[in-house]
Amino acid sequence: MNLAGEQEQALIAAAFAAAEHAYAPYSDYPVGAALLFGDGAVVTGCNVENASYGLALCAETVAVAKALGEGRRGGLAAVAVVGLKADAAPITPCGRCRQVLNEVAALGGTDPLVLCVGKDEVRRVKLSALLPHAFGPGHLA
Ligand code: THU
Repeated sequence: MNLAGEQEQALIAAAFAAAEHAYAPYSDYPVGAALLFGDGAVVTGCNVENASYGLALCAETVAVAKALGEGRRGGLAAVAVVGLKADAAPITPCGRCRQVLNEVAALGGTDPLVLCVGKDEVRRVKLSALLPHAFGPGHLA
């Protein structure tokens, strides 16, 4: 599924707005993520770093934690990921974030479209292509 152009632009804009709140003093690499749900809701997140560097939370992970914490259990239709300093290639979710995104996707049986935003390009990839043969909640059922 592709999003309508306007919906895609709105989701990317929400991710850019979220990136403005990034707490990334160590990497100086602010990231924003926006999750679009089937009911039209958008939940955003930014990366949150820590003086203990290895404890950094990625934007996608923060967004998923917010969504699950609000009671959302599935319905994930699309994700936009942007980096304010990522002025070349489209930014793609790190491995851990792919797994974290898979959790909320799998709960609702969706395969969300992931919009990886770069300077002059939006790469549109399904989560299943970013994380094939994913381990998920079904394995524990
Ligand atoms: N980062 C994200 O927020 N999402 C990703 O998918 C890749 C990396 C953050 C983590 C860290 O705060 C900064 O980008 C540099 O790695």
